[in-house]
Amino acid sequence: MSEQGGRVALVTGSSRGVGAETVRGLVRRGFAAVINYRDKANRAEALAAELRAEGGSVLTVRADLTDGAAVGRMFEVITETFGRLDLVILNASGGMEREVAADYAMTLNRDAQLGVVEAAGRLMGPGGRIVFVTSHQAHFFRERAVPDAYRPVAESKLAGELALRELIPDLDHSGLRLTVVSGDMITDTITVKMLERAQPGTVAAREAGAGSLLTVQEFSCAIIAAALDDHSPTGHTIYVGGADYLHGPGIDGTEGPR
Ligand SMILES: NC(=O)c1ccc[n+]([C@@H]2O[C@H](COP(=O)([O-])OP(=O)(O)OC[C@H]3O[C@@H](n4cnc5c(N)ncnc54)[C@H](OP(=O)(O)O)[C@@H]3O)[C@@H](O)[C@H]2O)c1
Repeated sequence: MSEQGGRVALVTGSSRGVGAETVRGLVRRGFAAVINYRDKANRAEALAAELRAEGGSVLTVRADLTDGAAVGRMFEVITETFGRLDLVILNASGGMEREVAADYAMTLNRDAQLGVVEAAGRLMGPGGRIVFVTSHQAHFFRERAVPDAYRPVAESKLAGELALRELIPDLDHSGLRLTVVSGDMITDTITVKMLERAQPGTVAAREAGAGSLLTVQEFSCAIIAAALDDHSPTGHTIYVGGADYLHGPGIDGTEGPR
């Protein structure tokens, strides 16, 4: 598993779903990987054990990304363990949880993303890559209708994407590149189940528009391909699924479908 020459990847929020599948793909391509999780230690450890049994190098770190001190400790552990970081996949996302503060979605999906990038930048060298994972409903929030239950998530993820884009000149200066990967709804994910519960019919409406929903595997493969594409310019957006979203320009002016 040395194909990546000792390269190290951090995938935030990777104990389950898209994040977990992205870690699997990266480790199987030879990356050492950091599995970050908030609560679900057993799930994170089970994934780490699975990948170590295949010969992978994996570190699990609990850190709620909205807790700056916890993020600082996570980077200390990464530094002590690997001493480098080459790839950060900003996958962790939230805002539909019950009993969270009114500004929680913005705190996680915008402010915490900036905090992770700032801390990661101190450990990453030229050639490093940051991938922001988002949804079409967030990326196109200003242009397309969004189910009410998802509005705080969509609005805050778009704010996060735009705030990260503002960092591009500073990232350039450090030799780091940003890629945005935006996907349509993904079948059988917790988010989509929560959306369907909050607004029955949401999935059927999306299937009618898209033909079929994405799978976790399809989306994570696209994230990995984007992360490994050495030719895509910084700020580039990769769109995955949902061709009906992609008529006309995206918020960064790039054309779809891709
Ligand atoms: N699901 C979709 O239909 C869809 C469509 C397009 C794009 N996406 C994007 O794909 C990414 C992953 O989606 P998903 O559906 O796989 O998400 P998910 O199942 O809801 O998983 C989110 C992950 O983020 C972690 N997380 C949540 N709050 C956190 C915090 N404060 N600190 C650290 N980690 C935190 C969770 O950790 P714990 O498990 O430990 O709580 C979990 O592992 C997101 O960026 C999402 O916007 C999803």
